[in-house]
Amino acid sequence: MTHTAITKHPEPAPAPAPATGRGRRLPPRWRKAILTLHVTVGVGWVGIEIVQLVLGLVGLSTGDAGVVRATRVVMEILGIELIAAAAWTTLLTGLLLSAVTQWGLLKHYWIVTKLVITVALMLNGHFLLQHWLRVQAEMTDAPDAPESLGLRLVISMSVSLVLLVTATALSVYKPWGRTRRGRRRPATGRARP
Ligand code: HEM
Repeated sequence: MTHTAITKHPEPAPAPAPATGRGRRLPPRWRKAILTLHVTVGVGWVGIEIVQLVLGLVGLSTGDAGVVRATRVVMEILGIELIAAAAWTTLLTGLLLSAVTQWGLLKHYWIVTKLVITVALMLNGHFLLQHWLRVQAEMTDAPDAPESLGLRLVISMSVSLVLLVTATALSVYKPWGRTRRGRRRPATGRARP
């Protein structure tokens, strides 16, 4: 009887290693609050990019001058104000999370790759996209004129969207393990799987 009871109830899983070192710098509820903000704005950024792409495609394909004007105005508002705010908030909350958790900023390839993607998208947005969006919005009275500009915007937004979805997937799968720096100085805590 006793023997059967023992085999039916396996040993409880070992308690997880205590989160020590960097992971302890912030109380868990604060980490979760920042992570919630990070995920909301990061994935929100993906959503804005999808809307931008749809507007760009509608602007290119419609023959209705009123619709073309409307898409250009909305694209300018979304692309200049909203995307910049989402990008900065994603970057800052990501940097903060890296600093206060055992993940570290340069210790895991998935985080370094996300950082590179985010900075590249922000530079592209600042130096190219915003300028193109302004030029396009100023041409609202000449709906047919800058078709090549509309095409450039759609291509750029498609590439941005692919990179953003890649960043989201990297966040979920967390692939490739530790960088050389991460291996040299192992984290004291245990990275969440
Ligand atoms: C393209 C923009 C980004 C998107 C869409 C994004 C999305 C996400 C998502 C969905 C998670 C949650 C994953 C999970 O809990 O399983 C996450 C976590 C995380 N992200 Fe990002 N992220 C972006 C940029 C960044 C950047 C630039 C950094 C750092 C420089 C960063 C650092 C982190 C860290 C450290 C975590 C794990 C936090 C934790 O588990 O405590 N992210 N990100």
